[in-house]
This record gives sequence, structure tokens and C-alpha cells, in this order.
Amino acid sequence: MKITFYGHATFKIITPEGIRILIDPWLDNPQSPEEKDLGPYDLILITHAHGDHLGNVLELARTATTEVIAIHEIQQYLLAHGIPNVTGMNIGGSYRTKGLTITMVQALHSSSIQEDEALIYGGDPAGFVVRLEDGRAFYHAGDTGLFYDMKLIGELYQPEVAFLPIGDHYVMGPREAAKACALLRPKLVIPMHFGTFPLLTGTPEKFAHYLKEFAPEVELKVLAPGETIEW
Ligand code: NI
Ligand code: MN
Repeated sequence: MKITFYGHATFKIITPEGIRILIDPWLDNPQSPEEKDLGPYDLILITHAHGDHLGNVLELARTATTEVIAIHEIQQYLLAHGIPNVTGMNIGGSYRTKGLTITMVQALHSSSIQEDEALIYGGDPAGFVVRLEDGRAFYHAGDTGLFYDMKLIGELYQPEVAFLPIGDHYVMGPREAAKACALLRPKLVIPMHFGTFPLLTGTPEKFAHYLKEFAPEVELKVLAPGETIEW
């Protein structure tokens, strides 16, 4: 698979069979590189409804060939806003589409949609485990605090790659994210959700420090916005 980081929590994944996935599609985030793929994508995954994760989905998912996957409440919101192809799920379930298996897993966070003065209920926040055509899986944790059931996600789905927030304040900090690696036991961890705003003070350097303590066997790859790796 090809993994491209677009800043914050936004990743483009191209699967071994060429399915194009965009996760948490905030393409105009402050870290976003100038060169980026505006789609159309085959799949767009939304972990939760906060603006920095819903991102530009209303512009990016206008064509019916782009399937958006999100929790039920976000699905209803997007359908009501004219997005043609949205599949709703809920925590614990798996869904097969385009040769992939998408599992929605829990996240410890909140989720709501801000429209003018109103806060609309966004359902529960989530993470995703995506099993690829070749049997390997990756895990995008969304926004979350540390929870011990990450161990269960590791045991059940054995994701080789984990995308974990490290920015602190609204999500796990570096120490918690390193402990998450000890529970999940991925081969590779890619940190996200840091440095975008001043409050997100967790750094890859601190994460590397704690990773040595809690899970030294896990490889760390810090991607610069716009950078692509093959795994
Ligand atoms: Ni959030
Ligand atoms: Mn966020």
C-alpha cells in the first residue's frame, strides 16, 4: 500500500489493488501540502464529526462513485446535505466493500457537528481498521484517549500499521500513544494530530522517547505533509 500524509489526521491510502482511500478529508488544514490529490476517491472514511475530520467531505464526495463510510449519525447528516453515496456503520461492526473489510472500532473522544450557532449530535467517535486485499490491515485511531481495549484491537485484527494521535490536549499525548503501541503491537506507527494548533504540544521527538521505553520493537515513521511511503 502507498501511504501519503496530508497533515493533521488526513491520509491517502492506495491499496495493493489500487483502491484510493482518503481518511478524515481535511485537505485545507494548516499543514496541508500544496500538491495534493483532490480525487475522486473510491472511499472516504470519517472517524468523527469535528470540523478538522469532516474536513472538505461536502466538496470531495459529490460523485456517486465515491463511497463515504461513517457512523450512522454522520451518514444521515451527509445524506441530508446531498452526498449521494454514504454507508453508515456503528462500533464493532465490519463492512465489506471494494475488496476491503472496514471495521469500525471505538474511540474515546466526543463528536458533534458545528453549524452556525448550533451543535448537532454526531454519534460516537470512532476509529477504523481496514483489511486490505492481501490480508494485511491498518488502524487509524481517529481522535482518542488511550484505552486498554486497544489490546483487543491488536489481538483481533493485528494491524501492521497504526496511525495514532500524539498531539495531547484533545487526544493522546506522546506517552499515552507509546503505551498504545505496546497494546496494539503494530510493526509500524505513524504519528498524527500534532503541531496543527498551538494547543497540540505533543511532538514526534517526545513520542520517540516514550516508544523506546514502552514498545521499542515498533518502528516509528514520522511523515512530513505531502510525503508518501510504500509499505
Ligand atoms: Ni475531534
Ligand atoms: Mn481532531
